[in-house]
Amino acid sequence: MCGIVGYTGYRDVVSVIFKGLTNLEYRGYDSAGMAIRDEGEIKIYKTLGKLINLKNELESKRSEIKNPTAGIGHIRWATHGSPSLVNAHPHTCSCGKLVVVHNGIIENYKELREKLIQKGCNFRSQTDTETIAHLVADEYSLCKNLELAVRNSVKKLQGAYAICVMHKDVPDLIIGARKHAPMLVGIGDGENFIASDTPAIIEFTKKTIYLDDNEIAVITKDNVKITDIEGNIVEKKVEILPWEPIALSKLGFKHFMLKEIYEQSDVIRNVLNGKLYDIDAPINLNEVKLDKEILKKLNKIEIIACGTSLHAALVGKYIIEDLAGISVEVEASSEYIYRKTTTDSSTLVIGVSQSGETADTITAIKQAKEKKAHVLIITNRPDSNMARLADSLIPVNAGIEVSVAATKSYTAQLISFYLLAIQLAEIKGNCDKSYLKNIKHELIQIPTKIEEILSNTSEIQECARKFSSFKNFIYIARGINLATALEGALKLKEISYINATGYAAGELKHGPIAMLDETMPVLSILIPGGITYEKILSNSEEAKARNAKLIALTSSDDKNIETIFDVVIKIPKVSEILSPTITCVPLQLLAYYIAEFLGKDVDQPRNLAKSVTVE
Ligand code: AGP
Repeated sequence: MCGIVGYTGYRDVVSVIFKGLTNLEYRGYDSAGMAIRDEGEIKIYKTLGKLINLKNELESKRSEIKNPTAGIGHIRWATHGSPSLVNAHPHTCSCGKLVVVHNGIIENYKELREKLIQKGCNFRSQTDTETIAHLVADEYSLCKNLELAVRNSVKKLQGAYAICVMHKDVPDLIIGARKHAPMLVGIGDGENFIASDTPAIIEFTKKTIYLDDNEIAVITKDNVKITDIEGNIVEKKVEILPWEPIALSKLGFKHFMLKEIYEQSDVIRNVLNGKLYDIDAPINLNEVKLDKEILKKLNKIEIIACGTSLHAALVGKYIIEDLAGISVEVEASSEYIYRKTTTDSSTLVIGVSQSGETADTITAIKQAKEKKAHVLIITNRPDSNMARLADSLIPVNAGIEVSVAATKSYTAQLISFYLLAIQLAEIKGNCDKSYLKNIKHELIQIPTKIEEILSNTSEIQECARKFSSFKNFIYIARGINLATALEGALKLKEISYINATGYAAGELKHGPIAMLDETMPVLSILIPGGITYEKILSNSEEAKARNAKLIALTSSDDKNIETIFDVVIKIPKVSEILSPTITCVPLQLLAYYIAEFLGKDVDQPRNLAKSVTVE
């Protein structure tokens, strides 16, 4: 969370940094700020709230900025210190000559702060970041070498950081350093960039160097130097970013979320492409770097993830157990890391993450690696920190996802799980071949079924309009669609702030039913042909008997449904096992349209950030 951009070069510094921050705004939007080096001075601009406020501030003060040559910018997701102007970055040392922006959490900031106060430093904010500014300035006052001052300072920091530092007395030099927080350098011709994530630089350069922990980048417009924490030069590989700048455009859609929902059919085709063209041929995910003989004997998988990725993991569990007969445990990363697990060298641990930067999942993966498990990462960011930890890596290829609420990355994760489960089943040889063949055949048709849903959303929009004034929702399902119920409810919570909870339908009568009355609509996911269809129907009737309004999400033609439910959202026919790939789509749309009717900020919901890089 938080976003950082640094730039020095021939372009308009303010515009470059502002563009970079715009493309990072999904990482946080509590406040924003910029420090610009202009005619020997460092000028600081900060505003509270979204980036648009910084834009207005910069426009009103534009005449002050004459000839900017370098700058650093920041968008904040508050951790230490409330969202306020004084806590907004950049932070400065007491004399204001040194500026710093920071992403991460400094765990020992209180004791450092105490020492610096005793040395006479004048603290103004409640942030951990300000400590870094005073610390580096203090070191600089001793050695008069900014690079050395940064190196000496980061040695004293405990916790996670990606920082950018500039000093008034050291013209056009930006220093970046990282530990447990992402940071990269963008290489240009007569210009260079530092950023916390690739979207910040994609419009200007595709040449990138990813910093590793304890590395320091020293950039001027003509030079990039990377060293380790002792100052030794580190030779780094220049990588070419796979994204196109167009991925950051809404392409005529009102919100990124809606655009990303509509991209799902193509995303799935993309994931299947090259993996599943001949349903008679076995699936071969050559990304899985485990010997076939090991896979054959594999009998324990643990999947760790957070949020929406955790829901994809629940579908993964269901299909791997169903098709390959391997026992699978699914756990929230934040729980996995604080208990004694049974992970060992015979466990396949799968980490699932859209961003590849989620701190809880990264910590869990590191623990699993310490226990010698083989770690397979399923992520949309093959350039991420998590991907770098992988023994095996499955990139889900959903393209960059800008909206904070995950949609297309979820369906891409699901499809990756289907391919993996089929591959494991084929290697194990314990699943009926014609069953697997039918699944493969139907998988190829999933994008068309999604297109059918997307081609007419009037029913869903009508439902959203009818129900947008309700304050509470219950989503129920059984079996494989329990994950869909949880995910649908999460989407509604995230973007409309309505209280929605997903339950296993059978659990309703064990407690939640007490809450039901006419103010609590119940949405049921009903896929005919499945073994639990009739049961969910009776669970829905039980809710109706308590006056709850009922919404059905179903592929059923049963006329009975129309009489039981107040609203019926129809989806194309689909087998139960593959149904999560399409049942999620109307629920994403329902959440989207409810939030839209309520006038919520769909792409940047309050209190959230796209990648959660703090534990
Ligand atoms: C999804 O809509 C959420 N924004 C959130 O739950 C997210 O899935 C979670 O933070 C995990 O992120 P990751 O997939 O990037 O690890």
